[in-house]
Amino acid sequence: MLILGIETSCDETAAALVEDGKKVLSHTMFSQIATHRKTGGVVPEVAAREHAVKIIPVIDKTFQQAGKKLTDIDAIAVTYGPGLIGSLLVGTTFANTLATVLKKPLIPVNHIEGHIYANWLENIPQFPIVVLTVSGGHNELILWKGHGSYRVLGSTLDDAAGEAFDKVARLLGLPYPGGPAIQRVAARGNPEKFPLPRPYLQPWNPEKNEHNFDFSFSGLKTAVLYLLRKKKHWTAQKKADIAASFQESVCEVLSDKLLYAAKKYRAEEIHLAGGVSANARLRQMTEEKLQKIKNLHAVRLHAPQNLVLCTDNAIMIAIAGYYKYKAFKKGRFKYQRPLIPNPNLRVRNWVRR
Ligand code: KG4
Ligand code: ZN
Repeated sequence: MLILGIETSCDETAAALVEDGKKVLSHTMFSQIATHRKTGGVVPEVAAREHAVKIIPVIDKTFQQAGKKLTDIDAIAVTYGPGLIGSLLVGTTFANTLATVLKKPLIPVNHIEGHIYANWLENIPQFPIVVLTVSGGHNELILWKGHGSYRVLGSTLDDAAGEAFDKVARLLGLPYPGGPAIQRVAARGNPEKFPLPRPYLQPWNPEKNEHNFDFSFSGLKTAVLYLLRKKKHWTAQKKADIAASFQESVCEVLSDKLLYAAKKYRAEEIHLAGGVSANARLRQMTEEKLQKIKNLHAVRLHAPQNLVLCTDNAIMIAIAGYYKYKAFKKGRFKYQRPLIPNPNLRVRNWVRR
C-alpha cells in the first residue's frame, strides 16, 4: 500500500511516499528556517505564503525521486492539526483537491500522532508504550494502549520544551532553532556552575506514588533571563555553562516524569518523539536512568536513529496514515471530507472497538 504523506503544520513543507508504513521510497522537505531566522522565530503569515510557494515543487520532486506517478498511490495522509491555521490550510486544501481529483481516500493525521509513529519505521513496537512528545509547539506524556487508543497523562501548562530551548537560545544570542544551538554550546559548558530550578510542579517523590505529569518551562526561561540580567557582559564560556545548566534541567524533568510514568503504567516500551527527542543529552540521561531503575531496565527505550524523523517531516505522517488507513478498512475508523484543519487539535482516541 503506497501512501503519500503531506506535512505543512508549521515551517516545513514536506511530502513522502512510504510503502506499507515501512519502506520510504522518497521524501522531500523544504525548511523555512533561513526565512524565520531573520525574525528569530516563525511569523505565521510568512510561513503560510512559503508553503503555498513550495507545496507543488515539493510534491513533484517526491514523485520524481520515487519514479512514481500520482495515480500509483493508494491513499493520501495529511496533517490537519495542531499547528498554524494558515500553514495547515495550504496542506489540507492541496490534499483535499488531490484526493478528489484522483478519487483516493484522504486520511487525516494529527501532527503529534505523526511524531509518535516516527518510531515505527525502524522497529515494530509493543504496546503499552509511554511516549514523550517534545517539540517546539507541543509537549505531551502519553500512555499509548493501541492504535487509536491514547491516554494523555500530562502536557505543558505554558511553553513546550522546544519553545523553551528556542527562547533561551535567543536570550543567549544563539540562532533559531535554539535546540540544536544550545546542545552544541552546552557541550563545552559545566552544568553545575549556574544551578537552575527543576520545574517538577510539586515536591517530586515517585516512591510515594505522588505524581504530576504536566510540564511548565516558562519559569525556567525566566530564571535564565534574571540570571543574565545580573551582568552586562557574559563570556562565551559562562554562556556555555548557562546553556548546559538549562539543558540539564529540562532533560532531568522530562526523563524523570517519563520514567516514572513508564513504571506506574507498566509500559513495555518507552519512546521519545518530536524535535527535542533529537537532543543527545536527553537520550543519554533517559537511558542511564532506565538502567538504574529496578523492574524497568528490561523496558526498551526508542528514539528515532535517523534525526530527520525527530523534527517535522512527512514520512511520519505517511506511517501514521498507513495504520489509520488499515483501521479505516476494517471499519474501525471514520472520517469526513472535505477535511477541515484544526489548529488546536488534541490527541484523541479514534478507534471504534
Ligand atoms: O517537531 P519539530 O520539528 O516542530 C514542532 O512540531 O514544533 O520541533 C522543533 C523543535 C524546536 O523548538 C527545536 O529547537 C527543537 O525541536 N530541537 C531540539 C533539538 N533539535 C530540535 N531541541 C533540543 N535539542 C536538539 N538537538
Ligand atoms: Zn512537530
